[in-house]
Amino acid sequence: MTQQMAAAERSTGPAAVTVSLRVNGAGHSVDLDPRTSLLDLLREHLRLTGTKKGCDHGQCGACTVIVDGRRINSCLSLAVMHDGEDIVTIEGLGTPDALHPMQRAFVEQDGYQCGYCTPGQICSAVAVLDEIERGVPSHVTADLLDVRISDEELRERMSGNICRCAAYPNIIAAIRQVAGETAA
Ligand code: FES
Ligand code: FES
Repeated sequence: MTQQMAAAERSTGPAAVTVSLRVNGAGHSVDLDPRTSLLDLLREHLRLTGTKKGCDHGQCGACTVIVDGRRINSCLSLAVMHDGEDIVTIEGLGTPDALHPMQRAFVEQDGYQCGYCTPGQICSAVAVLDEIERGVPSHVTADLLDVRISDEELRERMSGNICRCAAYPNIIAAIRQVAGETAA
């Protein structure tokens, strides 16, 4: 690369790349700066602002979305890494008129206060129940061949989702409600 080319790239940034992916069942093809995070693609380009930016460096979980069935922190992932993939955000789980069971449980169990962390909590919670259903163990699973729901399991699996309002007990109650369990 010549010095002039390098200087031009520094001033304009790298060339745009096209990313094609499905979000909440709808196909999108977007020209992006390759440095764009998945979170910024969702919020700034697709205007899906339900997914929140808390820390923007992987510490709070507010940006959690479900990618091909697995939850991830969208702030830590480049959009270009998800070409061809299927993304589900809080907007794709349910609507105000047709809440997802986890959304309804958060309302009924008073699982939020300010609500800023809630979209990430709910996406994470939905994926947690799926992980347990599939028998994926966590750091606190005692028997790797018998993965069950417990408060300890849920607290461990939800530990990447921080709630500044400290709604934690009610979040666990909401997840247990969806799982059809009430015992501690
Ligand atoms: S905004 Fe992604 S973990 Fe905090
Ligand atoms: S409800 Fe306020 S940060 Fe969790």
